[in-house]
Amino acid sequence: MKEPRIKLGVNIDHIATLRQARKDIDPDPIAAAQVARQSGADLIVCHLRRDRRHIQDEDLIKLCRLKGETHVELSDDPKIVAAVLKARPSSVCLVPERPGEVSTEGGLDVVRNFKSLSKTVKRLKKAGLEVSLFIAPEAPYVRAARNLGADVVEFNTTDYVAAGTKPAQKAELERLELAAYMAWEMGMTVHAGHGLDYHNVAPIARVPHMSALNIGYSIIARSVFVGLKTAVSEMRRMVD
Ligand code: PXP
Repeated sequence: MKEPRIKLGVNIDHIATLRQARKDIDPDPIAAAQVARQSGADLIVCHLRRDRRHIQDEDLIKLCRLKGETHVELSDDPKIVAAVLKARPSSVCLVPERPGEVSTEGGLDVVRNFKSLSKTVKRLKKAGLEVSLFIAPEAPYVRAARNLGADVVEFNTTDYVAAGTKPAQKAELERLELAAYMAWEMGMTVHAGHGLDYHNVAPIARVPHMSALNIGYSIIARSVFVGLKTAVSEMRRMVD
């Protein structure tokens, strides 16, 4: 049986990063979301950070009012959870967040933080949101995600992206394949992302049971030269 088409989640945080450089109105992340959607994005992804360095609360409200799926990354922080619940996205992904980090640094430690995550997952699910957990592709984390009641796991692809040799990349792909199979068998939907670009995305898109890829930096960086429409369409073609 042919696997369904993989969804492309386009993370527009860095459109807002550019706007915040001047704290002005351009470039507008809402307009960017519309262009991305018209160019092949299935999900619009953004991260409401504690330091509000890119996406602002008002952006989130507007993004969630747009037609189509808005997927919000958030940390396990009651104030952020409240702000996200107010905006009412279609789905969310809990991620770790260290103050001062340049980007998300790894997956959640869903084993060690099981208790606090359990409360937050329940709160989000009670509000009717689909809940994803950003984790490393490892069996104990997949098991804990299932026990937490996650609908989706998003596997961190940082180690795959950083693999410096073909054998190391192959080993990372196998690790992702195994974890994806395990999550799928447990009834969860499988996503992946972080650090994916035009050169490294294709093998990840072919991992069996992969359902969506969330990509931001490489698309927004390329859009500076070719425009957002072309940058998203090109990534769409790489994923297909
Ligand atoms: N997935 C998660 C959970 C993330 O935190 C990020 C970064 O915001 C991404 C995917 C996208 O990563 P990148 O910007 O490197 O494509």
